[in-house]
Amino acid sequence: MSRPLVVGNWKMFGDRQMVAGLVGAVAEAAAARAGVAIAVCPPFPYLSQAAAVLQGSALRLGAQNLAVEASGAYTGEVSGAMLRDVGCHYVIVGHSERRSLFGEDSALVARKFRAALAADLTPILCVGEQLAEREAGDTERVIAAQLDAVLELCGEQALAGAVIAYEPVWAIGTGKVATPEQAQAVHRFIRQRVSAAGSTPTILYGGSVKPDNAAGLFAQPDVDGGLIGGASLVADQFLSICDAALPR
Ligand code: 13P
Repeated sequence: MSRPLVVGNWKMFGDRQMVAGLVGAVAEAAAARAGVAIAVCPPFPYLSQAAAVLQGSALRLGAQNLAVEASGAYTGEVSGAMLRDVGCHYVIVGHSERRSLFGEDSALVARKFRAALAADLTPILCVGEQLAEREAGDTERVIAAQLDAVLELCGEQALAGAVIAYEPVWAIGTGKVATPEQAQAVHRFIRQRVSAAGSTPTILYGGSVKPDNAAGLFAQPDVDGGLIGGASLVADQFLSICDAALPR
């Protein structure tokens, strides 16, 4: 396995004071945690400030969304090139909140994934099933379709250097975390599916990861780290999750 990765998805939380404090604290702490790659994804307006705060540190910056198009008359959109320009390394695509609240289907997510690669960003592709889909035994079918949309548009090798985040929708922001065994089973399925195409992506688990459950999840052989929502907004919690990802 490559170096584990822990990414904080701030969602629509934060302000300038929080960027200065939280990004500053995590950037400083990253130096003592070289065994784990760490990134934070604040909202768009704070990316430049965050880039300045983390400059010279090992902490990396990511965005939460990007436009399909590279530039043009698309009011309200933000391109991959702009994200790169302000210092982003990663961009999240296909988060379940974007799929369910903003109508992003897998075809659109695949186009965003392609736009990220074109802008020299590393996409963090989110996949995951709804509770009803899990209960109907459809988890693998749903996730395969989400992966296939990207593979079909972007080619078999597209996921080679990418990050995939398995986020069961029923575990996001609910405090209801997948068991390590449930996470491992889906991560194994994802790895097998994409390694058939020769890819070895980093596969993160996301959904109610907290300091007290992170170690059990990260101990699974196919869990390469985490995509953290609520707990990424508190420095102590986020850093304790980063510590749980350190190789032992
Ligand atoms: P929570 O950690 O708040 O459940 O959010 C997970 C998530 O959606 C990260 O992208």
